[in-house]
Amino acid sequence: VPSIRIAPSILSADFARLGEEVRAIDEAGADWIHVDVMDGHFVPNITIGPMVVKALRPHSTKTFDVHLMISPVDPFLDAFAEAGADVITVHPESGPHIHRTIQRIKALGKKAGVSLNPGTPAKMLDYLMDEIDLALVMSVNPGFGGQSFIDSQLRKIEAVRRAIDKSGREIALEVDGGIDVNTAPRAIAAGADVLVAGTATFRGGPTAYAENIRRLRGS
Ligand code: DX5
Ligand code: ZN
Repeated sequence: VPSIRIAPSILSADFARLGEEVRAIDEAGADWIHVDVMDGHFVPNITIGPMVVKALRPHSTKTFDVHLMISPVDPFLDAFAEAGADVITVHPESGPHIHRTIQRIKALGKKAGVSLNPGTPAKMLDYLMDEIDLALVMSVNPGFGGQSFIDSQLRKIEAVRRAIDKSGREIALEVDGGIDVNTAPRAIAAGADVLVAGTATFRGGPTAYAENIRRLRGS
């Protein structure tokens, strides 16, 4: 059984106290810190940029898993790398040359992820499997927290799992959107090993974070 990593999305944190929130989820047992970057163009919402990532960086030593939902994405890769991102995940639709974008992320010394929207097929990854460190299956349309898990994405998680196993490479399989205590076991059964959870981590406030994370992990 692969170990499951929980990546709380700070999209559901209290934005007026983001540093404290990052420390709280770190202490509550988060494996990674998932940072959702939105530009109001690639997705219909606006969140934060590299300055905020940089400001949060000293608040945790855990992996900063930076999910870029911005277009064009290439002009901002260096800034997020410099701000302290460990994993930089991009959508193939956010620029004309996904392979080049991944090469740039790796040249910056960071782990590279590719994220598939609900309508984007698993085969989009076929010619990227030699390069990527992470595949992200979106189980909601990106832009907002608190949406319902789209069941059809389970089949995609299974397909990506097969592709990863066939590659023989170490590639994380992350699922993002609508993860809660009911959908987490289904995503894990389909082959996921990193679960992003915003709403399900932050509900109940800081005193509930540790228990929320433990329940998502299924332990
Ligand atoms: C959606 C973001 C997700 C989101 C998940 O665009 O990529 O990371 O915060 O939120 P929940 O867990 O509430 O569905
Ligand atoms: Zn995300």
